[in-house]
Amino acid sequence: MGQAWGFGRYGGPEVQEFFDRPDPAPGRGEVLIRVAAAGVNPLDHLLRSGLVDGLDGGRPFPRVLGMEAAGTVLARGEDVSGLEVGDAVFGFALTGGGTYAETTVLSAPNTARIPEGLSPTVAATLPVAGTTAVDALDQLGLPAGATVLVNGVGGGVGLAVARLAIGRELRVVGTGSTAKREYAEAIGVRFIDYTAEDVAAAARELVPGGFDGIVDLVGGTSLRTVAPLARHPREVIAVGDVTVPDLGGRLVERRIDRENLERSARLALDGVLAPVVTAVHPLSDAPAALATVETGHAPGKVVIEVA
Ligand SMILES: NC(=O)c1ccc[n+]([C@@H]2O[C@H](COP(=O)([O-])OP(=O)(O)OC[C@H]3O[C@@H](n4cnc5c(N)ncnc54)[C@H](OP(=O)(O)O)[C@@H]3O)[C@@H](O)[C@H]2O)c1
Repeated sequence: MGQAWGFGRYGGPEVQEFFDRPDPAPGRGEVLIRVAAAGVNPLDHLLRSGLVDGLDGGRPFPRVLGMEAAGTVLARGEDVSGLEVGDAVFGFALTGGGTYAETTVLSAPNTARIPEGLSPTVAATLPVAGTTAVDALDQLGLPAGATVLVNGVGGGVGLAVARLAIGRELRVVGTGSTAKREYAEAIGVRFIDYTAEDVAAAARELVPGGFDGIVDLVGGTSLRTVAPLARHPREVIAVGDVTVPDLGGRLVERRIDRENLERSARLALDGVLAPVVTAVHPLSDAPAALATVETGHAPGKVVIEVA
């Protein structure tokens, strides 16, 4: 039995609640873990709102929030390979376990061991933001010296993309609101404040020939403003806006398997990937953690530390 934080029906923050739940039994291909840390993502409140029903396994209410976690394996279901009881691991809770909790189940093929030297708090941010950053930049496949625009650079995925791009010796320009400038410039990004500047004009001044690639984390009209700044429409990769093919661009192709998680962890250990963690909350403070992300303007990654 452990404490968990979730929702009893679809809705806004008012449907959220703490409750006790028995440790979930790991099914085939799952491991039960004691959660050390859980990453907080925009998808979490979208699932609570019922806007993307089905992604969390369609389990009965109350459902526990959270898609990603790091922790220690307590038990294995059938058909689990490469993970043992006692291992420190990180990965995805795909089948509805929810990770804002003292214990949860992770999908074993989408879970990897945490390498020595990497904290569970950082590892908990890698399944969603870390691997998304890797996938977006892999898909662009830009050589060293190329220029990339990261639209929405100050968020969880944006700062991870920027760090990784700089690690690959790309020149990075990023957009965000005023408060994001310090985070972006601290890692070497040329920053455009979309609340104070004309983004297209400022970007053209910085990179007159157009960008070799664009990674968009914002979508909507903001995506439509920046997409024409790419030298070729195909080099626009959107992470959230599914309408990007209408502009000639591509939606990120996600790889959430163990191999990509292990690769992300190695890159984090090398100091070229780890998403920037800007706030750590205890589980009792989970409402504040998700409220920060739900504003749509959280800086970097917000993490809930459980144990
Ligand atoms: N496909 C996938 O597997 C996948 C994986 C991860 C995330 N996503 C999606 O990708 C999106 C980003 O995720 P995230 O975790 O990075 O979210 P996040 O942490 O909330 O970051 C979004 C950032 O965009 C900034 N922003 C908002 N409006 C902007 C604008 N007009 N111009 C520039 N920046 C703007 C926000 O702050 P400021 O406005 O204050 O700068 C914020 O820092 C979300 O929609 C998420 O659901 C998809």
